[in-house]
Amino acid sequence: MADSGSTGQHPRIAVSFTLALLIVFTIVFAVAFVVTSTPESSTSSSIVAQSYATEVAAALSDASVSEGETLIEAFQCSICHVMGEGRVAPSFTGMADRAETRRQPLSAAQYLYESIVSPSAFLAEGYANAMPANFGDRLTQAEIGHIIAYLLSISGSVSH
Ligand code: HEC
Repeated sequence: MADSGSTGQHPRIAVSFTLALLIVFTIVFAVAFVVTSTPESSTSSSIVAQSYATEVAAALSDASVSEGETLIEAFQCSICHVMGEGRVAPSFTGMADRAETRRQPLSAAQYLYESIVSPSAFLAEGYANAMPANFGDRLTQAEIGHIIAYLLSISGSVSH
């Protein structure tokens, strides 16, 4: 009598085992799907060659290097960005050359635009996410253009 009860258990054990396996596979699959698809879905910092291209072209259309220099003083960028020395923030010395290769496929001007309006989208290696994020609101598009023109005019190399 006791036997008939225990043999009857086997199919049920098999069914619950299969169900458990199914659940485990579903979870593994779901996790793998989320992990692999996340980089694509976080579009905020993903870029293509055309990113910011329209804004940059408009901002640079009437840009002036000397206006840019004045704005950098007025907005006190140099408190952090000391020329030739980059402890708190990268030096502006050689900015034109570095901006060209910093974030492919962005051009130097596109990279500088992003660095000003959205500093946390890409962090210069070795530096903290410490740049104020509100320059995009405080500066007009034309002012950003002047600043980009000025930064593009600074070549030269940094000692370290
Ligand atoms: C409170 C400090 C601070 C101020 C003020 C500041 N920045 Fe920055 N900036 C940083 C830091 C830190 C980084 C590096 C981290 C990053 O890439 O966001 C940076 C990065 C940059 C970069 C990219 C540099 C590179 O080598 O890739 C540019 C361009 C830039 N800032 C422009 C400006 C301009 C223009 C102003 C003024 C309108 C300004 N910053 C004001 C801290 C500052």
